[in-house]
Amino acid sequence: IRASIFDPLSSITKPATSTSPETNLPIRQIPGDYGLPGIGPIHDRLDYFYNQGRDEFFKSRMQKYQSTIYRVNMPPGPFIATNSHVIVLLDGKSFPALFDLSKVEKKNVFTGTYMPSTDLTGGYRILSYLDPSESNHTKLKQLLFNLIKSRRDYVIPEFNSSITDLFEVLEYDLATKGKADFAEPSEQAAFNFLSGAFFGVRPVDTPLGKDAPTLISKWVLFNLAPILSVGLPKEIEEATLHTVRLPSALVQSDYHRLYEFFSSVAGPVLEEAEQSGISRDEACHNILFAVCFNSWGGFKILLPSLMNWIGRAGVELHTRLAREIRTATASGVTMAAMEKMPLMKSVIYETMRIDPPVPLQYGKAKKDFVVESHDAAYEVKEGEMLFGYQPFATKDPNIFDRPEEFVPDRFVGDGEELLSHVMWSNGPETEQSSVANKQCAGKDFVVMVARLFVVELFRRYDSFDVEVAASPLGAKVTLTSLKRATF
Ligand code: HEM
Repeated sequence: IRASIFDPLSSITKPATSTSPETNLPIRQIPGDYGLPGIGPIHDRLDYFYNQGRDEFFKSRMQKYQSTIYRVNMPPGPFIATNSHVIVLLDGKSFPALFDLSKVEKKNVFTGTYMPSTDLTGGYRILSYLDPSESNHTKLKQLLFNLIKSRRDYVIPEFNSSITDLFEVLEYDLATKGKADFAEPSEQAAFNFLSGAFFGVRPVDTPLGKDAPTLISKWVLFNLAPILSVGLPKEIEEATLHTVRLPSALVQSDYHRLYEFFSSVAGPVLEEAEQSGISRDEACHNILFAVCFNSWGGFKILLPSLMNWIGRAGVELHTRLAREIRTATASGVTMAAMEKMPLMKSVIYETMRIDPPVPLQYGKAKKDFVVESHDAAYEVKEGEMLFGYQPFATKDPNIFDRPEEFVPDRFVGDGEELLSHVMWSNGPETEQSSVANKQCAGKDFVVMVARLFVVELFRRYDSFDVEVAASPLGAKVTLTSLKRATF
């Protein structure tokens, strides 16, 4: 049914309401409505979290309106967000409108129609909430680019050390319990890696000890509770998470411990910030956010996702990956060696296409303009909120063959041309993050870490098996076997 909705011919029979000089496509009025004030947003919220679930929420309305662009309310709605109205974009052609900064403003839209209290971030609006037109955006993003660049030689050795710890825990758990929870040890390893790679410090040698994953998870929950379902009964989630803001005072002491850690390890970065006119305090809250929320939070979703999709693809793919990886790294794991593994690279892009780790993106129209889907054009008014649900845009059948299928070789050879439609980083994979755009500051770093992860996995193991369940952020992966390398 999905294919017929995306089918460019399916809506040609619909009456075009008008034409516009901005497009050759028929202008269609944006279908959908927001319901009654106060009631519509709650109705949609209940559908989104409980009655339908996220994918069905978007899919059923796409079918009902015969359109990949329509109006709907996004959570949280009352009383957390004052305006929950959005225009949703669900195809790969309209979605990139969210990257066009001549058309959309990215101020305070990182988490959607509400913004978490700045009490959760030291009183500052952090980089992720800044529009590139704001001067601090350039300074803070440049600071992160400089940090990543200055530490590039530490990435591979720090990664090796952290992932070895991870594999040892997983093997031990498998040997003693018959299965191994991936989340806890991988989140520990991810924080240790980030701390080592960026600051050359082992968290266990500081007062933070092994507490970072717990402290960060709680703080992230306080930021994202309005748009998450954590598996509590509906009535409780609605009354506590989705209707009122959790008091930030409850997480202040945890946050303070994280702040003290970054304040003590990030000295050189904080000094550089001061020279560029940003206070040490503001820079430290930003570094904390970039490492804990953007980086650690991103890997908390991406690593299980890689285990899930590669794991479920089965032993045939595992064997091909192991062969390719072991041949290319025969004389060591280097950046150059990593370029010689087309299947490994493709498998990672395919994971990020089929399951983008950060699935929701927002932008507010700066002016009136026309947004095009494959078969119609729609007039957007200044001030309206655009929202893209990325998993539908990157599974658009007009762009990708067998879009719902995990195709490991999809981006090998000529397939590389399709990388412009992979958008996990909030921009096409073929474009570069810069101070002038809102593309992920860690784009290249993330791809490199994902590659190192898959490379180390298949240097050590021939194959593995997983069980996968849902969780509030990403997939919950349990390993049921790990087969040590035999060739
Ligand atoms: C922005 C994804 C890792 C730093 C973003 C955005 C996405 C994203 C989707 C855009 C959000 C929006 O504006 O709608 C991810 C994923 C990661 C990851 C999936 C890991 C798997 C990192 C890392 C860093 C980082 C390692 C380290 C520096 C940032 C920053 C922004 C950002 C600073 C805001 C950029 C700006 O304001 O121009 N990321 N990210 N991210 N990311 Fe990442």
